Parts: sequence; C-alpha cells; structure tokens
Amino acid sequence: MIGLPQNVQVFFATIAGCLLAAGVGYSLSSHPNEATKLTNSGSSEKTDQRQSNSNVVPTAPAVVLPTAKGPRPHYLAAKWDKIHFKPAIDKATNAQCLVCHHEIVTHKVRKQSPAGLKTTQALAWYQTLDTYKGEQVTFHDRHLSSPFAKKVMNLKCNFCHQGHDPREEASFSSATSKELGDFTMRKSVNPEKSCLMCHGSFPAESMGLEGSWAEMREGFEDEETQNGCLMCHQETFRTVRHQVNYLNAKVIEDLAKKGTSDVCIGCHGGRAWYRTSYPYPRHAWPDMPEEIPEWATTRPTESAPEHRLVTK
Ligand code: HEC
Ligand code: HEC
Ligand code: HEC
Ligand code: HEC
Ligand code: HEC
Repeated sequence: MIGLPQNVQVFFATIAGCLLAAGVGYSLSSHPNEATKLTNSGSSEKTDQRQSNSNVVPTAPAVVLPTAKGPRPHYLAAKWDKIHFKPAIDKATNAQCLVCHHEIVTHKVRKQSPAGLKTTQALAWYQTLDTYKGEQVTFHDRHLSSPFAKKVMNLKCNFCHQGHDPREEASFSSATSKELGDFTMRKSVNPEKSCLMCHGSFPAESMGLEGSWAEMREGFEDEETQNGCLMCHQETFRTVRHQVNYLNAKVIEDLAKKGTSDVCIGCHGGRAWYRTSYPYPRHAWPDMPEEIPEWATTRPTESAPEHRLVTK
C-alpha cells in the first residue's frame, strides 16, 4: 500500500485480519444445535474484540425453524460463512440457507406501491399468461412456492445463488474476489446461467420461424388445438427435453396437453427479459434428421452435468 500513511495501512491490515478470521473460523454446523468452536488464527485475537469475548459461538440449527430463538450467529462470521462460497454452496440445502435467511420465504409484498397503486389492482404484462395465479407475491415466492412454480419446477437456492462476493460484488477487484462465472458484476447471481434459461426470447430462428409467437400462434391453434407448440413438439422435433433435476418434465407435458401454449411459452419467450435466447443443449430425439443445422453445430448435446438426471 504505497503512499498511504502507516496508521492507515495498519487499519486496513486489521480489517483484513477480522474478515479472514471470520471466514476461516466459522462454519455452519450440519448437526442441529451443535456449538462450533471458533478456531481463530493467532493475529485476529487482539483485533476482534467480539470474538475474543467468547470463544464458543453456537451456530444456528441446520433445520428450518421459523421461530428459532437462541443466540444469533455472529454477523461477520455469518456473512463470510463457507456456505456462501464454492464448494460448500453446491451442497447447501434450502433449509440451511433459510436458517439465516428465513425472510426470503416470509416476506410479503407491499399493500400498495410508494406512488399509491394498490397491489390488488396491479397486473403486469408478464402476469397475463393463463398459468399465472394468485395475488402479487415476491420474486422468490414466484420461483419457489407459487402454484405453477411448484408444479413445473423444483428450484433450489443454489440453482441461482452460486456464491457471491460479499466484499463488493465485483470480480477481480481484489486478491480474494471471485472469478467471473458464478455471478455477474453487482449481482449475486449469474443471469446467463439461470434466468436466461427460462426468460430468454422465443427462439423462432432455431425453428425456421419468423416473428413473435403472439403473431404466429393463430396459424397453429384453433378450438381443438389449444397448444400450437405441440403441433411440432409433440412428436416431431426435440421431443427429448427437460430431463433435469430442477424441472418436473412429466408435469410440464401433462399441463401442456391439457392447457394452452402459455404453459410452454411462459419459459420460452412469454416472460422474456432478454433479446437473446438460451443456447439450449440439443438432445438427440427419435427420428432426428442426421444433418445438423448450422446454428446447432456449437450446441452441447446434453444438459449441464450438475443438472442431468441420467448419467451415461
Ligand atoms: C449463518 C447464517 C447464514 C447462512 C447459513 C447463509 N447466509 Fe447468506 N448471508 C448471511 C449474512 C449475515 C449476510 C450479509 C447480509 C448483509 O450484509 O446485509 C448474507 C448475505 C447473503 C446474500 C447477499 C445479500 C446482499 O444483499 O448482498 C445472499 C444472496 C445470500 N446471503 C444467500 C445465501 C444462500 C443462497 C445461502 C445458502 C446457500 C445462505 N445465504 C446461507 C448469513 C447467512
Ligand atoms: C430463481 C433464482 C433464485 C432462487 C431459486 C433463489 N434466489 Fe435469492 N435472489 C435471486 C435474485 C436474482 C436476487 C437479487 C440479487 C441481486 O440483487 O443481485 C436474490 C436475492 C437474495 C437475497 C438478498 C436479499 C434480498 O431480499 O434481496 C438473499 C438473502 C437470497 N436471495 C436468498 C435466497 C434463498 C435462501 C433462496 C432459497 C430458499 C433463494 N434465494 C432462492 C434469485 C434467486
Ligand atoms: C427454471 C425456470 C426459471 C428460472 C431459472 C427463472 N425463472 Fe423467473 N419465472 C419462472 C416461472 C415459471 C415464472 C412464473 C411463475 C408463476 O406464474 O407463478 C417466473 C416468473 C418470474 C417473474 C415474474 C414475477 C411475478 O410477480 O409475476 C420475474 C420478475 C422473474 N421470473 C425473474 C427471474 C429472474 C431475474 C431469474 C434469474 C435470477 C429467473 N426469473 C429465473 C421460471 C424461471
Ligand atoms: C412449426 C413447428 C414448430 C412450432 C409450432 C414450434 N416449434 Fe419449437 N422448434 C421447432 C423446430 C424445427 C426446432 C429446431 C429443431 C432442431 O433442433 O433441429 C424447434 C426448437 C425449439 C426450441 C429449442 C431452441 C434452441 O435454440 O435450441 C425450443 C425451446 C422450442 N422450439 C420451443 C417452442 C415453443 C415453446 C413453442 C410454442 C410457443 C414452439 N417451439 C413451437 C419447430 C416448432
Ligand atoms: C418451467 C419452465 C419451462 C417450461 C414450462 C417449459 N420449458 Fe422447455 N426448457 C426449459 C429449460 C430450463 C430448458 C433447458 C433444459 C436443459 O438444459 O436440458 C428447456 C429446454 C427445452 C427444449 C430443448 C430440448 C433439448 O433438446 O434439450 C425444448 C424444445 C423445449 N424446452 C420446449 C418446450 C415446450 C414445447 C414446452 C411446453 C410443452 C416447454 N418447453 C415448457 C424450461 C421450460
């Protein structure tokens, strides 16, 4: 730290010491109610008063206890808990995250917006699909507990949260910052590996189609055929799909047959936050033409290994 006065340098070193000690010394117990002994490494003992006062910090129980009383985990230690980082985050269960973040599943939306619009009167364009049900709820609820979400998917906290950088949420900003890939600048998730899968635009080009589904669906749907997607996707194209641990493949197909194309479009363009679509893997399907279309030559032929149901 060239150019800084000595006392400022000491200050920085002390802060770094605290964070390091918190990060290394504390880990969430996988056994309910077990007290974890802090193994502070030498230098931090003097600098971190809060930890030297008591050497044993009881961790939160590793089960969902909405009303859990008992001692709260030490704030800094919890913030730098191993569970927020790879590799521990890959194994984390929802219940473990919810020990400290229970508000994620109990939060309610406001009764009205700051400008006075009542929640009961609000309806966004992406909430007009047939599958959208119920009152306004939070983002997390829409992905974890809404009636449609519970039927078609099975998202875990760590599907989206792959570890973030509690320091400043920016990659390469410090020696300890995380590499690009798990999360994106100033976000705690990587949208390209999560949101884009279900909120990309309708991949018309891959289908040799042109325009939006809203314009073309008329051509594929009538009184009897409510789901035009299935005209081509029931038997002819890409019939091997959704074989991943975070989707309920069978339920999706059942709902799609009973319902309208909104079931399918909901994740493939009907709630598009992006102009691009996700480069889906292209699984071989029965009677698949041998020739690979130009756009598909770079596509994987299987889902990401961590999500596959069947390992070959
Ligand atoms: C031992 C308690 C504890 C556990 C377990 C825990 N967290 Fe945290 N988490 C915290 C604390 C404390 C912070 C810092 C909050 C702050 O600074 O406002 C934090 C921050 C976060 C943030 C960033 C919030 C923000 O606004 O920047 C995310 C996202 C997060 N945790 C997700 C998770 C996920 C996902 C899991 C499970 C894999 C998890 N946490 C497990 C205590 C915990
Ligand atoms: C569909 C993807 C997704 C899932 C599943 C998900 N989250 Fe989040 N979470 C997000 C996004 C996106 C944000 C906002 C991130 C940002 O601001 O960078 C967020 C924010 C948070 C925050 C920060 C506090 C806040 O309210 O903004 C915490 C803590 C958190 N999530 C915990 C969890 C926990 C615990 C679970 C599992 C029970 C979970 N999340 C499941 C995507 C998800
Ligand atoms: C596996 C598919 C999937 C992934 C991944 C996913 N979503 Fe969603 N998202 C859905 C579905 C399905 C709904 C509609 C749920 C319903 O109708 O109850 C939805 C709804 C939404 C809504 C509308 C909420 C409302 O109140 O109507 C927003 C905003 C949203 N998602 C943002 C995101 C973001 C941001 C991410 C990435 C962090 C993400 N989604 C990841 C499937 C997904
Ligand atoms: C006219 C026939 C047709 C209709 C109707 C149709 N598709 Fe497709 N779809 C295709 C073809 C052809 C492909 C590409 C097959 C291949 O990989 O060679 C495809 C590919 C896809 C892909 C993968 C795209 C990629 O880039 O990997 C998705 C997702 C998809 N369709 C969803 C839908 C949805 C959702 C609907 C209804 C809203 C729909 N399709 C309607 C013919 C159709
Ligand atoms: C809850 C969200 C969701 C719904 C509903 C949904 N999909 Fe998908 N779809 C996805 C995701 C995520 C993937 C990527 C899965 C993977 O990586 O293997 C995918 C992949 C696909 C693919 C690529 C298949 C391949 O080769 O692997 C096609 C085609 C497709 N979906 C069509 C449809 C059709 C048709 C429907 C309605 C019957 C539908 N989807 C309903 C989320 C959804």
